[in-house]
Amino acid sequence: MRSIAVALLAVSQTAVSLTAVAQIHPETSANPFALVSPPPATARHAMVVTIHHDASDAGVEILKAGGNAIDAAVATAFALAVVYPQAGNLGGGGFMLIRMRSGAAHFVDYREQAPAAATADMYLDKNKNVIPGLSLLGAKAVGVPGTVAGLVYAEKTYGKLSLAQVMAPAIRLATEGFLLAPAEASAMATSKSLASFPDSRHLFQRDGNVYRPNERFVQPELAATLQRIAADPATFYTGSMAQEIAAAVEKAGGLITAADMAAYKIHDRVPLYGHYRGYEIVTAPPASSGGIVLLETLNILSGYDLAKVGGDRSAAQVHLITEAFRRAYMDRNEYLGDPDFVSMPLTQMADPAYAAAWRRSIEPVAPSPSATLQRPAGFLPPPPKAIPSPEPTQTTHFSVVDAEGNAVSNTYTLNGFFGSGVLAGQLGFVLNNEMDDFTSKPGVPNMFHLIQGPANAIAPGKRPLSAMTPTMVVAPGVCSDKARRRCKPGELLLVLGSPGGSTIITTVANDIISILDNHLNVQQAADAPRFHHQFLPDALQVEKAFPLPVLDQLKATGYTVTRNNEADGKDPGVWGDSEMIYIDPATHRLLGGNDQRHTFGKAAGY
Ligand code: DON
Repeated sequence: MRSIAVALLAVSQTAVSLTAVAQIHPETSANPFALVSPPPATARHAMVVTIHHDASDAGVEILKAGGNAIDAAVATAFALAVVYPQAGNLGGGGFMLIRMRSGAAHFVDYREQAPAAATADMYLDKNKNVIPGLSLLGAKAVGVPGTVAGLVYAEKTYGKLSLAQVMAPAIRLATEGFLLAPAEASAMATSKSLASFPDSRHLFQRDGNVYRPNERFVQPELAATLQRIAADPATFYTGSMAQEIAAAVEKAGGLITAADMAAYKIHDRVPLYGHYRGYEIVTAPPASSGGIVLLETLNILSGYDLAKVGGDRSAAQVHLITEAFRRAYMDRNEYLGDPDFVSMPLTQMADPAYAAAWRRSIEPVAPSPSATLQRPAGFLPPPPKAIPSPEPTQTTHFSVVDAEGNAVSNTYTLNGFFGSGVLAGQLGFVLNNEMDDFTSKPGVPNMFHLIQGPANAIAPGKRPLSAMTPTMVVAPGVCSDKARRRCKPGELLLVLGSPGGSTIITTVANDIISILDNHLNVQQAADAPRFHHQFLPDALQVEKAFPLPVLDQLKATGYTVTRNNEADGKDPGVWGDSEMIYIDPATHRLLGGNDQRHTFGKAAGY
């Protein structure tokens, strides 16, 4: 852990109407309003960057024991399930982007699935109104978890070591315990989701005698579960553990059965590819909206020389980037869903000609109001009728690069902070509330004000639309013949991703732009104050540390601006968590970007 230098900015106490953007639990955010970046951590051979130092160390331990990036990633993910239980998980789902040194890339989609008994109106009362909280808290909010299937598949297919070897650090951390950082202890002690269920309150909050900062947190139930998975992973989906999970959900009034557990399937998908500033972007395909929205944004921005119009976070740059976000999110909201259930115009959305048409609608200085914005004609089919869907917090991202140049970019989630709050029986972990990422009811705005299409309606076996965007940036490959048959794969430049619900995609885009256009180093890019626009609400949303003079300039041109938690003097007003690795093309050294908004993360390497 590095200490952070903090510069306090004057904070306006003016009461404003605040928009709920993806919010970090206040206690996990140490950054009061502004950040000064330390130099990036460096490593010669291999690196793991996560939100938790014990999880980073677990990954490095496996790399040093001869594991490749996938072995280390699986070890790290299991370790995060122990040391960062608010988001690291066995009971959730996510996406693992893998790129081998050969250039071959894979996208393991281990997103949760809706149970067979799920219906489009399962969160509505008899008057067809949304029942508040039903898709967020409790067993009805739980989707069939995919994490164990995804990690076991990744290990078996792309790893070099055994499952038992890579799970050993997590089992040790659960058995021997680890010291809770003050922010971690506080997050666990104050979780309302955990407090809502006696079993969860017992396990994580000791029935009210809550864990204190620097106390050792030992998890024998979770250790036993991890040991059972290491010995026989099939038990989680088709054996005794599947029965236990189904029984716990059923007892708590949820829908998941043993048959749903057995029916869970991971997908090994082809990633999405695009280009920006001469680099290849390898990113998340649906059921994430992240990759296609990222590519559409970057395609629009490709037509501008951002470095010439102004510096990083200058009003001129922020204007153009925001207008690109606005347009890409307009398409996200209306077209995207689970590719196994809906067809989406992805090729058209990623077409540079479409981006050029969008650019023609961007005013040089003033914002384009979302209410009157017209999509360029002749590119996309008409969108299905609009339907909204919610997208709350909690997720975590980590990045791994090994000594051979293989890499993993992994984002996984419980969705809410400690998910649904429901414990998986005696297994020692909480279950997700990912069902809330579906549409609960047409026409009702969600807590993140995202408006999405019927493509994302609930259906049995369907995956809810995600914004998680594990991504890599790669230099172009070099071919020694004109027909491009003899080519060396491009060198990896950047591995990145973030949590943050709907803000994930704009965080990833901002990091790429800060590095490729503005030449910030990877640590500065991670720490730079974030800004976000998602078409609706029509507001430029910024972290509290965002430079105020720039905001004044943007307001003067017509932007409505929301500073995150501006009226709350105690809240740092931040979101997201960039955990990145940059490979210096000149020296091949690995540079870690470990987001300083959190105090217990680490860029670890050797
Ligand atoms: O999959 C998604 O897009 C959401 N469930 C992610 C939620 C999230 O990132 C919250 N983290 N702060």
